[in-house]
Order: sequence, then structure tokens, then C-alpha cells
Amino acid sequence: MSTLPNIIPPAAPSMQHQWLPFTPNREFKEDPKLFSRAKDQYFYDLDGRPVLDAGSGLFTTPAGHCRREIADAVYAQLLELDFTPSFLRAHPKSFELSSRLVELLPAGLDKVFFVNSGSEAVDTAMKICLAWQRAKGAPGRTMFVSRERAYHGVNFGGIALSGMVNNRRAFGNLVHGVVHMRDTWLEENRFQLGQPQHGRELADDLLRLINLHGAENIAACFIEPIAGSTGVLVPPVGYLERLREICTAHGILLVFDEVICGFGRTGQPFAAQSFGVTPDLITMAKALTNGAIPMAAVAVTNHVHDAIMEAAPEGAIEFFHGYTWSAHPVACAAALAALDVYRDESLFERAQALSVYFLEQVATLCSLPVVTDIRGYGMLAGVDLKSDGKPGRRGHLLQKMLFDAGVHLKTTGDCAILSPQFIFEREHIDHTTKVLRSALESLGT
Ligand SMILES: Cc1ncc(COP(=O)(O)O)c(C=O)c1O
Repeated sequence: MSTLPNIIPPAAPSMQHQWLPFTPNREFKEDPKLFSRAKDQYFYDLDGRPVLDAGSGLFTTPAGHCRREIADAVYAQLLELDFTPSFLRAHPKSFELSSRLVELLPAGLDKVFFVNSGSEAVDTAMKICLAWQRAKGAPGRTMFVSRERAYHGVNFGGIALSGMVNNRRAFGNLVHGVVHMRDTWLEENRFQLGQPQHGRELADDLLRLINLHGAENIAACFIEPIAGSTGVLVPPVGYLERLREICTAHGILLVFDEVICGFGRTGQPFAAQSFGVTPDLITMAKALTNGAIPMAAVAVTNHVHDAIMEAAPEGAIEFFHGYTWSAHPVACAAALAALDVYRDESLFERAQALSVYFLEQVATLCSLPVVTDIRGYGMLAGVDLKSDGKPGRRGHLLQKMLFDAGVHLKTTGDCAILSPQFIFEREHIDHTTKVLRSALESLGT
């Protein structure tokens, strides 16, 4: 554990004015969980108590917290050029960053459009797909195929794509024309780490939807290579390859939403490389800046980009889309510094190597009576808990117990999701599993 300067802990602030996202606000304010500082593998609460970050923040911070290199780059950028309008103006660092990303991306994904969050990346990717189909003379292709148990953010496009009804329930169905394939969870794959052997044929669910709705109406198929937020569903062997085949055969764009998987989480820069399947578009966010500054992006193949460019008259805006903070100079500086850290410390290679030990240790939890399934790949694992009758109650309780016991990780429903930092040592993995084991034991059967 790193030593920190002895500073006076900040007083707890009044909480009455903030409305917290994805949080039971009233419960939280009764029993708040606040971090006031962080360094390397640890958060620190208001009393200076360390909490081991076994969730990499929110899949955001694989290189550890408060990295000096990133902080220095952000500070210097703020003093050099704090803002550039993103329409009709630009700055050199965004071009440098796009080139650096293209070096990491699978061959062919050669163009990068910057946005500020994973949700914006997803909705931007949807628009690019629609614009491409129109540019190719197929304006009727406006439907999207996604998957049950998918999470694609919270903007209107993203909630329509997502396979999580709670994220849509209160807001109606404003984006029509999204249909969902089955998810890839199968009983016979329970407790298999790595890519499960069964389930390649689940990709043929895309064919079923094509037959039902007509390929001539479908723009794109959106997939998280590993469905992260809903419990780490690893694609069965051959599944992504089959999706690629079907999309290509039917003129449907394949989009990998790599907001969680990107930047080494699967041991390669992107999951597309880990699984050897190249989509037409990739969305990325979270670890792009090691979580330090909000930033996200959509990477696009040349053939998609060029068709959209060529469809517009010379001198015209080709794509009517963008955000005030697209390619913000400070975010670009943070991302360049984060990519330097990943490269200089070989962190993706480190993730690949450490993954073996990490998954072995998580697998030791399989004998606990409350655990009904464990899945994992790279530095990502999901541990399912038996429900106590009210879905999500146990998971929520577990997450609070772990915080009190000094470990931070995310739960979704009754699934604990581990996504350790790549700078973890074996002792951090041991500690995470030990604390998790004891919390799971105390939940009983
Ligand atoms: C696969 C995926 N897509 C999109 C998002 C949305 O990202 P953000 O919360 O930055 O909007 C997330 C967030 O977890 C995600 O996991």
C-alpha cells in the first residue's frame, strides 16, 4: 500500500443538493460511501482508510490512480491551450491522438471521431451507420440489432440498444426499430473461464432476425465483445466469427462496443484483436484517459468513412454531428499521457500475463454455496450469486459489505464484477479474493 502525506481529512459535505446517478439516493445519503483521495491501487475514504480498487474505478483506471504523468500533461495543457472550438477549428494534439489510436486499433479501422462518454460514442456510432447506409443508397436500412443483457449507455439510442429493461422503463420507447438477439449465457457453460465451448450457434439468432425483418431494413449489429456491465458474458468459441460472416453477407455493419473491453482489458489493445474478429466500427471510452478526464471515441473503417465523405458535395459538411467538447485539448493531453503509460509500462502485456493468476484465484470461489456461476476473460470476471428472492438485493448488499471491508468493485443485479487494475500485484488479487470470499460466506447459501 502506498504511503500518503498526512493531511487533515476533509469534513463530510452537506449532501442535500446533489442527485446521484444510478444510485438509491435516499439510502446513500443515510449511509454514504465517499472517497476523498486515491493513489495507485487504492482509494481512501474521508477517514484516510484505504479501499483496494478491484474495479479499476469503473473499468476506467487500469494504470492506477493519480498518475503523475497524466496530471502533469493535463496541467501543462491547461496553461498552453485550454479550449479550442471543435467545429471548424482544431488543435494538433487531437490529430496526434487519432494517429496513436490507429496504431493500436485493428488494421483497417483508420479514422477516429472524438466524443466525451461511452453513451455519446454509441449514439454517434448509430448515426455513422445510418449515414453510411444512406450514402450507399440504402436509406431504408434504419433498424439495429443488439442483444439481450447488452449495456450500451444511457442516451436514447443506447437505451434502445441495451437489453436492460430498467434503463428504459421510465422513459418510453422513443427509438424504434431495435431488435435483440439472445444473450450468450448457457447453463452448460457454467463455471467455464475463458471462451466457453458451447454456443457458437447463438450467433444464428442474427439470421433469425434478418429473416424476420429483412436485411434490407437493417443498418447495423451492435455487440459488446464481452458483455461487461451485465455480468461478463464471454463470447463462445466461434460466435463472433459467425456474427462477422452473417453481417458481411447481408450488408449489415458490425459494431463492437469496446467501452469496457478496450485498452488492454482482454490482454490486447482491443477485444477485436483478442478474439481475432474485426468489426466495421469500434466504440471506446473509460480507459482512454485512464479515467482522468472524460473522453471517448468511435473508430471507423476507411470504407465507411470514405463513403460518407464522398456522398456529400465538395465543401459541404459531410456529417452533421459533434459536441462542444469533442477532442477537448485537455482530454487529448490526458489520453496521450495515458497511452504513453500503457506503452512504457507494457501494461496490456502485464494484463495478459496477470490474467492467468487472477482467473485461477477467482475460480477458487466456485465451491461457495451462494455462488451459482463464474465467468471470466482477461482482467474481467463475473461471479453470480444465488438470489435471495428479490433480484439484485444480495448484490447490492455485497457491494456495501465489500466497501466496509476495504475493497471496491461493481455489482450489477446479483453479479459481482471484478476488473482489477493492470498494476495489481498478486497480493492485491489475493486480498480481493480473500475479502470477497469472506463476504460471500457471510451471505450463507
Ligand atoms: C459497453 C458500454 N457502452 C457504453 C457505456 C456507457 O458509457 P458512459 O457511462 O461513459 O456513457 C458503457 C458504460 O459502462 C459500457 O459498458
